[in-house]
Amino acid sequence: MLRKTPSENDLVDLHGKVALVTGGNCGIGYATVQMLARNGAKVYMAARNEGRAEAAIKQLQAENLNDGSVHWLKIDLLDPRDAQRAAKEFRQKEQRLDILVNNAAMTAVGHFDLTQDGFLDVMVVNHISHFALTDALLPLLTATAREPGADVRIVNLTSAAHAHVKPESFSTKQAFNKDYGPSTGHLLRTYGTSKLANILHIKALQTRLAAQDVPITCIAVHPGAIKTPGSASFLGGIPRIGSFLKTYIGPLLFAPPRKGALTVAFAAAGKDVAAQRDKYMGAYLVPIATLAAPSKYALDERLQKELYETMLPLRRPRVVALGGDDCCVCCVAGKEGASLVPMRITTLLRSVLGKRLQNDSRFQIWILMSSRLSCPPN
Ligand SMILES: NC(=O)c1ccc[n+]([C@@H]2O[C@H](COP(=O)([O-])OP(=O)(O)OC[C@H]3O[C@@H](n4cnc5c(N)ncnc54)[C@H](OP(=O)(O)O)[C@@H]3O)[C@@H](O)[C@H]2O)c1
Repeated sequence: MLRKTPSENDLVDLHGKVALVTGGNCGIGYATVQMLARNGAKVYMAARNEGRAEAAIKQLQAENLNDGSVHWLKIDLLDPRDAQRAAKEFRQKEQRLDILVNNAAMTAVGHFDLTQDGFLDVMVVNHISHFALTDALLPLLTATAREPGADVRIVNLTSAAHAHVKPESFSTKQAFNKDYGPSTGHLLRTYGTSKLANILHIKALQTRLAAQDVPITCIAVHPGAIKTPGSASFLGGIPRIGSFLKTYIGPLLFAPPRKGALTVAFAAAGKDVAAQRDKYMGAYLVPIATLAAPSKYALDERLQKELYETMLPLRRPRVVALGGDDCCVCCVAGKEGASLVPMRITTLLRSVLGKRLQNDSRFQIWILMSSRLSCPPN
C-alpha cells in the first residue's frame, strides 16, 4: 500500500507544550517554528540578533499563529558558553521542555575561521554549541519526559553532505577541526563533518538515554534541498557560476522552506512518531518524513561513542592550568565546574604542568563545556 505523504495535519496537538528551535528567524527554522506554534505550542525562537528575531516574530504573528505563541531567546552559537547561558535563561523561564530542535547552522561559504577556543567556527555553531545547549537542557528534558503522557523529542538538523566525509576518529580536537580547504567541494566536506557530528551526536545521545531508561526520542533530519538564505549564499558563493545558479537554478531545484520544515516538524511532533516511538529512536529522516540510512560512518558506534565522550567534561581528577598572558584559568578536573584562581598561582602551575596539558585536546574541550569559565581579571 502506498504511504500517504505526511502533512501539517499529521502533527500531534501541542497545547501546553514548550518547544525551542535554534535559528528560527529564517529558512527552515522559521517554517518549523510556525508549524509547531500553529499546533498550539509555546515556541522559543533561539536566535542571535534581536532585530531579526523580532521582525520574524512579527511576521509569524501576521501570518497567523492560531493560539500558539513565539518568544525570542538570545543565543549566539559561535560561543558554547553562550549556549549554556541561554539554556540557563530558558530553565529560569520554563518548567518544561517538550521539543528541542537544533536547527541553526553556518553554511559552506567563503572560508572557515578558528574561534577563540581554537575550533573551526562551522563546527562550533553547527555541532559543539548545540551539544552544549542540549547537554545543559537535558535535566529539564528528562524531567518533562518522566511526566505522565509526555512525548519529548530532540531533533538535530543534519545534511546529506555528511556523507562526503570519512573520518577515522573523533577522539581528538584535530578530528573536529579538519578543514579540507577553500574550493566549493572542500568547503562542503568541512561543513559535512559538522553535519556528520549532528547525526553521531543524536545516535550516541539516544543510546545513552535508552540505557538510562529516559523516554526521549532523538531524531536526525536531512531536510532536502531547500530555498533559504543559507542555500542561496552557498549557491551564490560557487566561483564563476554562482550568481547564475542562485538566480536560475536554485529556484528551480530548491523547494520552499515549508517543505523542508515538514520533515523537521514530523520528527518534532509527528503523530506517527508518537505512535511508534521505538521505530524512530535514533532515526535518520529524509524528505518527506521518510526513514533512511545515513552513511556507514554515521552508523559507526565507535565514532558515536568517541564523539560523545570527547565532548563530555573530563572527570579524571587532576590539577590543570591553562591560559594566555592576560587571563588564566585553573581547574581541578573531576570536580564540578572549575575554580578560578589568581593569575600568580595559575602562572606557577602552568609552568609546572601546563605545557603538556595545554596540548590535551580532551581538556580543552572540557574547558569549552564548563559553564563557569570566564577570563577573570588579573
Ligand atoms: N537549506 C538547505 O538546502 C539545507 C540542506 C541540508 C541541510 N540543511 C540544514 O537545515 C538547517 C537549516 O538550514 P537553512 O538553510 O534554513 O539555514 P539558513 O537559511 O542559513 O539559516 C540559518 C539560521 O541559523 C542561524 N545562525 C547562524 N549562525 C548562528 C549563530 N552563531 N548563533 C545563532 N544562530 C545562528 C541564522 O541566524 P541569522 O539570521 O542571525 O544569521 C539563521 O536563523 C541547517 O542545520 C542546515 O545545515 C539545509
